[in-house]
Amino acid sequence: MIICFTGTGNSAAVASVLSRHLGDEEVVMLSGALLCSVSPSVRLSGNRIVWVFPTYSWGVPSVVAGFIKRVTITGADGAGHFMVTTCGDDVGRIDSQWRRMINRRGWKAKGVWSVQMPNTYVCMKGFDVDAESVAHAKLEAMPARVKHIAAMIAAGSDETDVVAGSWSVVKTGVIYPWFRRYAMSPKPFRASEVCIGCGRCARECPTCNITLDATTHRPVWGSDCALCLRCYHYCPVRAIDYGKSTAGKGQYRCPDDAGIQG
Ligand SMILES: Cc1cc2nc3c(=O)[nH]c(=O)nc-3n(C[C@H](O)[C@H](O)[C@H](O)COP(=O)(O)O)c2cc1C
Ligand code: SF4
Ligand code: SF4
Repeated sequence: MIICFTGTGNSAAVASVLSRHLGDEEVVMLSGALLCSVSPSVRLSGNRIVWVFPTYSWGVPSVVAGFIKRVTITGADGAGHFMVTTCGDDVGRIDSQWRRMINRRGWKAKGVWSVQMPNTYVCMKGFDVDAESVAHAKLEAMPARVKHIAAMIAAGSDETDVVAGSWSVVKTGVIYPWFRRYAMSPKPFRASEVCIGCGRCARECPTCNITLDATTHRPVWGSDCALCLRCYHYCPVRAIDYGKSTAGKGQYRCPDDAGIQG
């Protein structure tokens, strides 16, 4: 069974390619009622659990970390847990952080892999989506990388094969907790006057954190935000900004056909 969280579709595309190579392994998407439940429960199908999610600030997204803590997986005694994380560049020491989370639950942590995909983080100065050619090259390389990872998972591998990057211990050990505490607020989100009130941001939000104002039909953000940036990237008229830091920045959405061939 593959358990997947995605903001802009990269991790969902990787989960879908993995599933195909693992013999149509079931993919459980983390969103809505399942993700937000206080005591979520899933029943294992197959004999392993593969966690697929993006890297956030060189660590496990807080929304996934919370789910790992809360979830009951029935029928999973003795099953191995694997992790595949998508990232724009590098993942720091997310491997040891995730293994600790899994071990704390008394589960068996196995292999860990990263897959580079187009960048989605735009909320700070100096961060933007990739140039089209860079994004294209990453999407082209993904299917072969995921095919290799699927073979390793099928073989029950315990390996760690991630792009840790420079200063990996500091990034995961120091910047990650800082980011979770100070840089994840949904308060800076705003919709400008170009908003057409289509409601897509509200429908797509995986944590159901957006409602539409009854009078203006513009989005209103609650406090339960994963900072996945799906609202920002999927808005059809580029109406959403995160304070001033997203001015002039691009949008990205993983193409529907990513990984279909290969
Ligand atoms: C809040 C946030 C933090 C991110 N932090 C990192 C990071 O530390 N390292 C990295 O390489 N990419 C980082 N990214 C980029 C994403 O990990 C990458 O684009 C991922 O493939 C997005 O997957 P998704 O489309 O499934 O949401 C970050 C993206 C977001 C939204
Ligand atoms: S997706 Fe964009 S246009 Fe549609 S309601 Fe949300 S902010 Fe407005
Ligand atoms: S409000 Fe936007 S950034 Fe926050 S979880 Fe929902 S879609 Fe993601």
